[in-house]
Amino acid sequence: MKKSVSGFSKLSKRKKIRWVVENFFKDPENVMRELMSFAHPNEKQQRVLDGFSENTISNFYLPFGVAPNFKINDKIYCVPMVTEESSVVAAASSAAKFWLSRGGFHSEIISTTKVGQVHFSYAGDFNILESVFSELKERFDEETLPITKNMQKRGGGVLEVNLVDMSHLEADYYQLKVTFETCDSMGANFINSVLEAYAHILTSFVEEHPAFENTIREVTIIMSILSNYTPECLVRSWVECPIEDLGQFPGEMTAETFAGKFEKAVKIAHLDVHRATTHNKGIFNGIDAVVIATANDFRAIEACGHTYAARNGQYQSLTHVSLEDGKFKFWIDLPMALGTVGGLTTLHPLARRSLEMLGNPSARELMKIIATTGLAQNFAAVKSLVTTGIQQGHMKMHLLNILNHLEATEKEAKQALKYFKDKVVSFTAVREFLEVLRQQPVNPQCSVKGE
Ligand code: MEV
Repeated sequence: MKKSVSGFSKLSKRKKIRWVVENFFKDPENVMRELMSFAHPNEKQQRVLDGFSENTISNFYLPFGVAPNFKINDKIYCVPMVTEESSVVAAASSAAKFWLSRGGFHSEIISTTKVGQVHFSYAGDFNILESVFSELKERFDEETLPITKNMQKRGGGVLEVNLVDMSHLEADYYQLKVTFETCDSMGANFINSVLEAYAHILTSFVEEHPAFENTIREVTIIMSILSNYTPECLVRSWVECPIEDLGQFPGEMTAETFAGKFEKAVKIAHLDVHRATTHNKGIFNGIDAVVIATANDFRAIEACGHTYAARNGQYQSLTHVSLEDGKFKFWIDLPMALGTVGGLTTLHPLARRSLEMLGNPSARELMKIIATTGLAQNFAAVKSLVTTGIQQGHMKMHLLNILNHLEATEKEAKQALKYFKDKVVSFTAVREFLEVLRQQPVNPQCSVKGE
């Protein structure tokens, strides 16, 4: 049982690290040095990073890569991607290149409405509340003007407020369901501030309004919070070309056979929940990487996407294919609430660079770029699955990671890459290969097992 601690958050950073390493590690001095070695050399930048979270003891690095050649609506993007998974950036890049010569990707915004809710209990006469609701809405508008006026100036604000009766599911349970337009910001703070103000106004309105004279005046606010499910904040991205233009695939697979197998694979992800989960996971390999690179909230984007995937009562593929009139069409519809101003998007120094690399897009443009990256990622994954299999591409990166882990030299890595070209890569096999190689430095490859 480890020591518990009180007042940890008030300790200096150095003392926090010291407490952690002394209580949880066998070699505290080494770990202390290691944790501190990941600190940013520029103190000002480190302070910015520390400001994002609490109790920070170091920085956790992830690779920041780019996938060039993304043609979306005739504009070429170099897409920033932050991911720890090998092959993701390579797959996105290869799909981008594949479609570059076939008209590129197309994308359109279907809608941009976000949702928030005030959940409350009321044991009085709901009909009375309903009868004076338009008056209450006017109070909402007037009294929240200090919060909403800036957003209104930018073309956004509150779009609609509805009173929802949920008492058939839970006694005395009602909601205010509010829809918002938050322009280029993700809008979480704005939405939650408005909702909390509405909750307050609702409570005092029922307490004071003469209509409630003969009924209960007490409203219990359960909670006021945005919903991360935003099916009306929707983007569609697609690719299309004549089937014969898809070209030839490994193993001399024709375009027709490829298209047929591809369609079947996507269909399976609509029919089978196990496959759907992996299929959509592959889509989020691409989406999350760009969402993280632009410092948006990847948990919100994932939660929303998965709920949307289950909107018909069964969890299904987020992408669709049609093969009609000799045409291959592949598309994704995806709701996502993200921002290009506010939050971390402008505070994180590399997120700022990611956005700059994308030409400082509006939130709507970023929705298109991110949905397209998800579609590209899925295209690359399913293309590999129905042709060569996924391991071929994965294994090279896997091998490189193992070689790094085993501290292989550049020369050893080169020999290993050659050796494992047509062999199954495993940690043990690579370790054994290096052991043999290292025992016989002169012309070592001749003596390696199996050679
Ligand atoms: C691996 O991270 C993602 C894939 O499994 C996705 C898929 O199967 O579609 C390759």
